[in-house]
Amino acid sequence: MKVFISGNIAPVGLKQLEENNISVTQWREDRQITAEELIEACKDEDALISVGPNKINAAFLEACSHLKVIALHSVGYDQVDVAAAKRLNIPIGNTPGVLSGATADTAFLLMLAVSRKAFFSHQKIIKGEWKNYEPTQELGIELNGKTLGVFGLGKIGLEMAKKCMGAYKMPVIYHNRSRNEEAEAEIGAKYVSFEELIAQSDVLSVHTALTPETKGKFTLEVFEQMKPSSIFINTARGGIHNETDLIKALDRKLIWGAGLDVTNPEPMDKSNPLLFMENAAVLPHIGSATEETRDAMAKIIVQNIVAGLKGEKLPYEVRG
Ligand code: DGY
Repeated sequence: MKVFISGNIAPVGLKQLEENNISVTQWREDRQITAEELIEACKDEDALISVGPNKINAAFLEACSHLKVIALHSVGYDQVDVAAAKRLNIPIGNTPGVLSGATADTAFLLMLAVSRKAFFSHQKIIKGEWKNYEPTQELGIELNGKTLGVFGLGKIGLEMAKKCMGAYKMPVIYHNRSRNEEAEAEIGAKYVSFEELIAQSDVLSVHTALTPETKGKFTLEVFEQMKPSSIFINTARGGIHNETDLIKALDRKLIWGAGLDVTNPEPMDKSNPLLFMENAAVLPHIGSATEETRDAMAKIIVQNIVAGLKGEKLPYEVRG
């Protein structure tokens, strides 16, 4: 059996594929594979491990309907036309659960970095602008007892909530499409409307999937309704906030700051104003990038591939 991998995965995954007698071809170039190249690369393969934002849309799926399984190197599957995959009988696997802790750590890191203007202050040293001990400059804000608002209280949002409660005794409010009663019972999170969420949060952390409903949800109008002292964090998908509006909101000090691990587009252009603003902190989509998590993701991917190639039900299958 043969699998094409459109990027790199942790070595433990490659080893396990070999142990299962699955031969591997990998995309080795230092750029994202194009849609045409991906179709061409999958022509003689039995399975695909999709690394990065490859569009697994109807055009790709129809051109590659011979694939027995597609395993995503992500929990998110907004890049997949799940209905088309179902219609063509191609099972799609993802990597839920194992990256919740690492991704929540990234949200927490960004929250702290924004609250203390850490990235901006670091840049000042690099630019030779650290001249003196200055007690009135680059002052941050503290997080103790502030309200955490979670937009999308699932596995990752819950981890973020627990970290904020443990570190800073932050009360948690959240908004979801449907209530998460388990999380309410576990951590005492309070369900609120979207309007209440944006008005009451001191830190608003986005952990929802990118869907037609959440696409472009955070607009200037929304930022206008947030507290001027609030922090906006997005470690989910860049498409959930309107970037131009966010820049305006930060520029006009409608909110205190923003921390992003996801942008739109990715990669972000190196001249993007967000990279130079004192109240912004941006990371290059490293939410799940720890050795432990990437190993765990690679192992799940192999489980999905092995099951799919045998025609068995995937242990971690995207339901849509
Ligand atoms: C995920 O797993 O969805 C991460 O954001 C990587 O894409």
